[in-house]
Amino acid sequence: MRQDRRPYWVKKNYLRFRSWYTQQFLKPACDYLGDYPTFMKPWYISISGPNIEIGRCATVIGEPENRVKIGVWGKDEKSGRIKIGDYVLISPGTRISAANEILIGDGVMMANGVYITDSDWHELYDRSRRSEAVTPVHIANNVWLGDRCTILKGVTIGENSVVAACAVVSKDVPANVIVAGNPAVVVKELDPDRPMKTRADYFSNPAQLETFFDGVDKMVLSNNGFLNWLRTLIMPNARD
Ligand SMILES: CC(C)(COP(=O)(O)OP(=O)(O)OC[C@H]1O[C@@H](n2cnc3c(N)ncnc32)[C@H](O)[C@@H]1OP(=O)(O)O)[C@@H](O)C(=O)NCCC(=O)NCCS
Repeated sequence: MRQDRRPYWVKKNYLRFRSWYTQQFLKPACDYLGDYPTFMKPWYISISGPNIEIGRCATVIGEPENRVKIGVWGKDEKSGRIKIGDYVLISPGTRISAANEILIGDGVMMANGVYITDSDWHELYDRSRRSEAVTPVHIANNVWLGDRCTILKGVTIGENSVVAACAVVSKDVPANVIVAGNPAVVVKELDPDRPMKTRADYFSNPAQLETFFDGVDKMVLSNNGFLNWLRTLIMPNARD
């Protein structure tokens, strides 16, 4: 489909249902979920385990072939935690798995297929036992994690830094740099004096943003007819 053929009211009701699903099934899975969450296709997002907090204005995108999985598996049923700040972006296929502690700051962006883990999950010399090493992962504000990168146990990533696509990060990353490769190394420095626009800026007035996008939907979709939309579902043509 090249265009959204849904009538405005169909999309509006779809968004209401999506929001209801998030509040009904995903919010109770968190210790805290901030206001203005945008969970797209939330039925493909799984949140499991104790002590999971997600801040306000989180954008989390589920896809059928690329589920988002956020899970804590501590050494007992109350331990381990994941704390995710405000304004984060979590793209399809991202997995965040904590045995101990994963802290993710405000405005952090995770591209498709990012994997963050604070454990190796198995002992090297006794594969029947889970690893007991305590190795928290801390990702500071405004970090950008590129497509299919992996953040391994014990890593701290400093503010604003970027992890390039497919990088494997096994050592700490300072603030304001780009790292790439396996194992990831610094390939570039960001200019800390250049002003940076963050997701916190973008979401500075989330209510206004919602009203804006609703206005765009109204403008773009209001001429779409119900019967024509039904036709596109069963008999789409090249102009749809
Ligand atoms: C991290 C990134 C944004 C940096 O872009 P950039 O500032 O233009 O960086 P450059 O292309 O100048 O690369 C700097 C160096 O790192 C290397 N490099 C960049 N990305 C790399 C990667 N993913 N793996 C290995 N090396 C990489 C470049 O070859 C270059 O090496 P050189 O200095 O020896 O020539 C970009 O490389 C990247 O990974 N983009 C993908 C972002 C993404 O996943 N987006 C998804 C949507 S959120």
